[in-house]
Amino acid sequence: MTAKVIDGVKLAASIREQVAERAAVLTRQGVKPGLAVVLVGSDAASQVYVRNKVAACEKAGLHSVLEQYPADLTEDALLSRIRTLNADKTIHGILVQLPLPKHIDAHRVIEAIAAEKDVDGFHISNAGLLMTGTPLFRPCTPYGVMKILESEQVVLRGAVAVVVGASNIVGKPMAMLLQAAGATVTICNSKTRDLAWHTRHADIVVVATGKPGMVTGDMIKPGAIVIDVGINRTADGKLCGDVDYASVSQVAGAITPVPGGVGPMTIAMLLVNTIEAAERSNA
Ligand code: GUN
Repeated sequence: MTAKVIDGVKLAASIREQVAERAAVLTRQGVKPGLAVVLVGSDAASQVYVRNKVAACEKAGLHSVLEQYPADLTEDALLSRIRTLNADKTIHGILVQLPLPKHIDAHRVIEAIAAEKDVDGFHISNAGLLMTGTPLFRPCTPYGVMKILESEQVVLRGAVAVVVGASNIVGKPMAMLLQAAGATVTICNSKTRDLAWHTRHADIVVVATGKPGMVTGDMIKPGAIVIDVGINRTADGKLCGDVDYASVSQVAGAITPVPGGVGPMTIAMLLVNTIEAAERSNA
């Protein structure tokens, strides 16, 4: 079997078009949706991510502010900046790009963001709302994966889903969303014994470990849908995911490529969350 290759670029473009329409309506009503993106330090990958986020905002007709600070910015200065953005009526979403430099406590920073502007969905109260089934914002990457599964018409009710990776940003919220949609979910981590036993039983496998080649074709049930959240760079500078694409695409029913799968969806869902924040502020 050769897997269907899921086109995340195309799906993201259609979502961004819908965002642009909603942004135009809000703007006509006098509310220009605004996102502030804060980057501390000069991590090369983070710089690319934030630039892509800001560019996507501009393209969809959202107002965006990119604030870049040197790596030695103090935690107090960052917290003070966040308080100012919390009070800024032209800003509906605030995103602090992670990771932050080691001397800054990321938890404290995330908790300082007003929950109703936390478009990443990382604030503790948003994590709690997601867990209890009434999310205010769904974290962008898992939200994008849910949109992919929806567009592929994957039946989640009663499905067996395995999430490989248990991060707060992807693995845990991903499991919550799949569970809320009726799937039976297992979250695996780096200590899981016999990972292949788990993945081989799954109808849906979502991989977010940051380790290239973590999941291979022999670990996948024929016909399963495989979602690769990883973005890694090979020694020769090419992008690759956490899934061994060559072998898995011979077994899976459908697979997301890297690049062009989940990545574009993450940005599209950030725009959706920002538009929702702006619409709520206008309600
Ligand atoms: N770093 C890697 N992914 C993300 C994300 O989705 N949001 C933020 N703020 N930082 C990240």
